[in-house]
Amino acid sequence: MSEMSETHDQLNTLEAAALAELNTVTSADALQAWYGRLFGTKRSKGALDEAMAALGSLPREARPAFGKRANEVKQALLAAHEARQVAVREAELDRALSSGAIDVTLPGAPVQRGRLHPSTQTLRRICAIFAGLGFEVYRSPDVETDANNFELLNMPEEHPARDMWDTFYTTQPGVILRTHTSPGQIRAMRAFGKGGSAPIRVVLPGMVYRYEQVTARSEMQFNQIEGIAIGRHITLADLKGTMTEFARRMYGDDARIRFRGSYFPFTEPSVEIDVYWGLATERDRMITKGTGWLEIAGAGMVHPTVLRNGGYDPAQWSGFAFGMGPERTAMKLYGINDIRHFWANDLRFLEQF
Ligand code: PHE
Repeated sequence: MSEMSETHDQLNTLEAAALAELNTVTSADALQAWYGRLFGTKRSKGALDEAMAALGSLPREARPAFGKRANEVKQALLAAHEARQVAVREAELDRALSSGAIDVTLPGAPVQRGRLHPSTQTLRRICAIFAGLGFEVYRSPDVETDANNFELLNMPEEHPARDMWDTFYTTQPGVILRTHTSPGQIRAMRAFGKGGSAPIRVVLPGMVYRYEQVTARSEMQFNQIEGIAIGRHITLADLKGTMTEFARRMYGDDARIRFRGSYFPFTEPSVEIDVYWGLATERDRMITKGTGWLEIAGAGMVHPTVLRNGGYDPAQWSGFAFGMGPERTAMKLYGINDIRHFWANDLRFLEQF
């Protein structure tokens, strides 16, 4: 009987070793390898098969007991394998979850923040100042009629002053891209003047277009802000007071302005407005071309013909209008030497504002 107990011992040892090893298995790969070693793979025999081979060399009467025991071992190992498989799946899931987990204490990836275009920033600042002075902010279209852009502004066809603005025409007769924001004067008077019976105070910011050679000094598009005020007793002094207050809020409490006589077909008299910038430094000299003064706007008293075209009786009503170009001013203030930077969409430029 010693031979028989020896083979039984072999089975017991195999079982104990296999179970012990199974307890250390934590991955699906290791589990599969364990299974292969015991039950065999396509290419190799398993340890259990090898142990069973001993059956043939046993005495006939010992075979049933050995076979029974071998079967018990096989069933025990299969059951243990199945239980381990569940544990391994859970462990792998845990690992996947914890490796993919987010550490909420880590600093986040920085978000690239957008910002407003420098021209938009300037336009908004200017509009806010005029809003504080009682002006409404209004938009009028970029695509305009020749009538609003020229004719109703006292420039009939063939008027030589039209040469002041090189124009983009469209295939539609009488439809152009506005060359300045002044057609907004006509629109504002007609929209808000109640047929020439109500005062208005409006600013109109927006893009204008000129059919010009693009160079460092001139672009074919840029922004303007138009302003118009119509009332019963408005004089040039009101224009001066309004622009002085604007300059103080924009450039500082001690800002001074001056008027220089000029010509526009839609204002009479017409002026150009300068703000005193100073001559203290070399940079001041450069910005102001040695004069100390910075040109900020064209302006004047609204021409009687234009008042009439807006629905007002010039015998009863008067008004002033102005137009400024924020890019030109920004160029001088920030030392921008090429106007093309504004619309080139180069972040290295835009991010400086
Ligand atoms: N529209 C004029 C220009 O583009 C500026 C201006 C506006 C002048 C309003 C007088 C009154 O140059």
